[in-house]
Amino acid sequence: MRRAKISIIGAGNVGATTAHWCAAAELGDIVLLDIPEVGDMPKGKALDLMQAGPIMGFDAKITGTSNYWDTADSDVVVITAGIPRKPGMSRDDLLATNAKIVGSVAEQVKKTSPNAIVIVVSNPLDAMVQRTWQVTGFPPYRVMGQAGVLDTARFRTFVAMELGVSVEDVSAMLLGGHGDTMVPLASCSSVSGIPLTQLLPKERIDAIVQRTRDGGAEIVQLLQKGSAYYAPAAATAQMIEAIIKDKKRLLPCAAYCDREYGVGGYYIGVPVILGKDGVEKIIELQLTPEEKAAFEKSVQAVKNLVETMNRLLRG
Ligand code: NAI
Ligand code: 2OP
Repeated sequence: MRRAKISIIGAGNVGATTAHWCAAAELGDIVLLDIPEVGDMPKGKALDLMQAGPIMGFDAKITGTSNYWDTADSDVVVITAGIPRKPGMSRDDLLATNAKIVGSVAEQVKKTSPNAIVIVVSNPLDAMVQRTWQVTGFPPYRVMGQAGVLDTARFRTFVAMELGVSVEDVSAMLLGGHGDTMVPLASCSSVSGIPLTQLLPKERIDAIVQRTRDGGAEIVQLLQKGSAYYAPAAATAQMIEAIIKDKKRLLPCAAYCDREYGVGGYYIGVPVILGKDGVEKIIELQLTPEEKAAFEKSVQAVKNLVETMNRLLRG
């Protein structure tokens, strides 16, 4: 039996840490790819990680490269390539730059791994996953974005801290884009089956929801250089595992919604079933009027982002 092949495009913080979690969980052989301008950096990280195998007890072939043919026929491709916002750069500059980077990566993935399932991580997430789908032309269920697993993990962490319980017992769900308009669903969150609303007063839940929305910015402020990567990479590895092991996990992911939730052809965070075919099903929840209004606001924000991206790309 052949091991699964996982290629990670962008061998920076999120890419290399995703490789780390995947190797530790023995999910398959891993290819780390970055641009030629970074020299042998991906080779160095790959070899270093492989040398952790005898200590941690995993067998995996880990390859560093800048040649897409080394990623050929991957089962799963993860896109983390991009640049962070630099001083003097507007949001639109970043959007246009990363859309071009992610578009060029998607072209290569289409050529070298035409049957892969693609998980996009690069930001701004909801636009980058839409771009990847546009360029690859893959069926929508084979292209998805990672954000919801991270955002719910942040929510679960804060709830566990507040209640003094194990994170394992806290489950949560969330809808919407990966940004200020995300919609953590307190109504779908529980601790060992006990609704969160029975354990915490509304003002504490509201505070946790807000901290979750600001979760990425909180880490950026603490790190001072770069953004979060341990939890984003763990979230990505969990999605890869669900696909490779055909686990049928029910997780929040950025998935293509057309008639679903009345979105009309955009990628947005929704609960999905993840298995060997990718997004095998989108779960439509019954939302309270408040949740519905917040979700619609988030969908509109994502649509505006994608329209801006399309306009910038047209030049
Ligand atoms: P990083 O700067 O450490 O790594 C990015 C890597 O992409 C660099 O090594 C760079 O050389 C590479 N790269 C640039 N252009 C490329 C190209 N054309 N082809 C291949 N590689 C290319 O950044 P980090 O921290 O790894 O973040 C990566 C992306 O993930 C960022 O856009 C970040 O905002 C996003 N992110 C998204 C999260 C989510 O939940 N969706 C969470 C955390 C980060
Ligand atoms: C985060 O949420 C930057 O999207 C990234 O940490």
